[in-house]
Amino acid sequence: AQGTVMLNLNAAGAKDTISRHIYGHFSEHLGRCIYDGFWVDPGLNIPKQDRIRMDVVNALKKINIPNLRWPGGCFADEYHWRDGIGPRDQRPKMVNTNWGGVTEDNSFGTHEFMELCSLLNCEPYIAGNVGSGTVEEMAKWVEYFNFDGISPMANLRKQNGREKPWKVTFWGVGNESWGCGGNMTPEFYSDLYKRYATYARDYPGSPLKKIASGASDWNTNWTEVMMKNVPAGQMWGLSLHYYTIPTGKWSHKGSATQFDEKEYFSTMKNCLAMDEIVKRHSAVMDKYDPKKKVALVVDEWGVWTDVEPGTNPGFLYQQNTMRDALIAGSTLNIFNNHCERVKIASLAQTINVLQALILTEKEKMLLTPTYHVFDLYKAHMDARLIPVQFTSPDYVSGDEKIPAVNVSASLDSKGVIHISLVNVDPSKKITVSSILDGTKWSGVSGQIVTSPKFNDYNSFDNANKITSSKFTAAKKNGNKLTVELPPLSVVMLELK
Ligand code: AHR
Repeated sequence: AQGTVMLNLNAAGAKDTISRHIYGHFSEHLGRCIYDGFWVDPGLNIPKQDRIRMDVVNALKKINIPNLRWPGGCFADEYHWRDGIGPRDQRPKMVNTNWGGVTEDNSFGTHEFMELCSLLNCEPYIAGNVGSGTVEEMAKWVEYFNFDGISPMANLRKQNGREKPWKVTFWGVGNESWGCGGNMTPEFYSDLYKRYATYARDYPGSPLKKIASGASDWNTNWTEVMMKNVPAGQMWGLSLHYYTIPTGKWSHKGSATQFDEKEYFSTMKNCLAMDEIVKRHSAVMDKYDPKKKVALVVDEWGVWTDVEPGTNPGFLYQQNTMRDALIAGSTLNIFNNHCERVKIASLAQTINVLQALILTEKEKMLLTPTYHVFDLYKAHMDARLIPVQFTSPDYVSGDEKIPAVNVSASLDSKGVIHISLVNVDPSKKITVSSILDGTKWSGVSGQIVTSPKFNDYNSFDNANKITSSKFTAAKKNGNKLTVELPPLSVVMLELK
């Protein structure tokens, strides 16, 4: 089966910048993300810097990850940063009450995280503790990170081996304060936010971009109260969390690999809801902030399935299939198309947790289909969004339908156009045609991530089943571009 559809795009209309930080990531002290993910046993026989595994670092550097959010998530509101500095053998141990009740030794703390960011060449995004931490504790952490001079916290930092401040910019004030971060009402939290944010100081040369804990899913009331109660200038960004749950039910989310077409369809439908969710929160923000000065920060997103059988339910370890690749491509297209408001996003979570880019098993490491999509999409970072007019054919399942194809396009600083197209239909090839008037281009090339089945995945025995490869089904004929999108595909085109 096949369908044809027209797409209108004019590079002269490129305006808003797609912030590179939309391509950000999240690493929580959860399951095997930090411990046994980034930070491994000293005896593990792989290249390491200190205890940071370098195969993981090198893979993430290749896709230019722009930022990394840490230490949570729910963990952030129980994390006391002073437990994670100083000689490692003297650091107190703690119980990770949110995630599996395991004991951790605090061997990965502020200095180790900042070393990781420096190896990755990415910006840190720190989530401060509001739920169980004090105003003083947060204020002192900022001083420890950012003050260049003589002060108790700067002196302590120097004593621990770091002379110069790190100049951290992105600063989260709590996480999910409506839930694991303290079960607050938006009214109560908005006041608390102002109090914590007041003492999270801007030190010379280090102005903070303060990000308030935001709503989840469709809860626009939280966004409304925050926008109403926090004056302009006190909040750089407001967060939003939305996870794709395959079945839509938290009690039984669905398997990461064993699902039929009905569940595949509901997953993609739930994934595409991100567009409407972002629109609704943006509309509320527009009422109070028509000039779009406050950023919408989607600092947790991705598919959340049941854990892999036999693994610790508190560790949130799940496999990653072709379906995940389609979720990544579609969601990133949505964020690109809303880049006038969405300035940061963080996929949850980088390694071994939820929709991961990388899975590890002792010395082995594999790149997931999601990783390969981020590799393709890095072309959009800091490019200008080209608005696209396009009506997709439907992908129909029973009496429901969703758009089969989604798209975003950008123009980079060298004048190169990139168009990312996703076809979620599992059986239809779709031909997309576009007349590129007013645009100079002499040729088209492309890359694709695809696989015959939506539940194909990379395993440690077959780690390259799904990768990216050259895409040759895009043709130029005069000013007309014709693209044949195979079923279940994520395609990135380059026109220059
Ligand atoms: O990413 C897993 C968890 O999901 C985070 O800790 C929390 O913020 C969210 O509920």
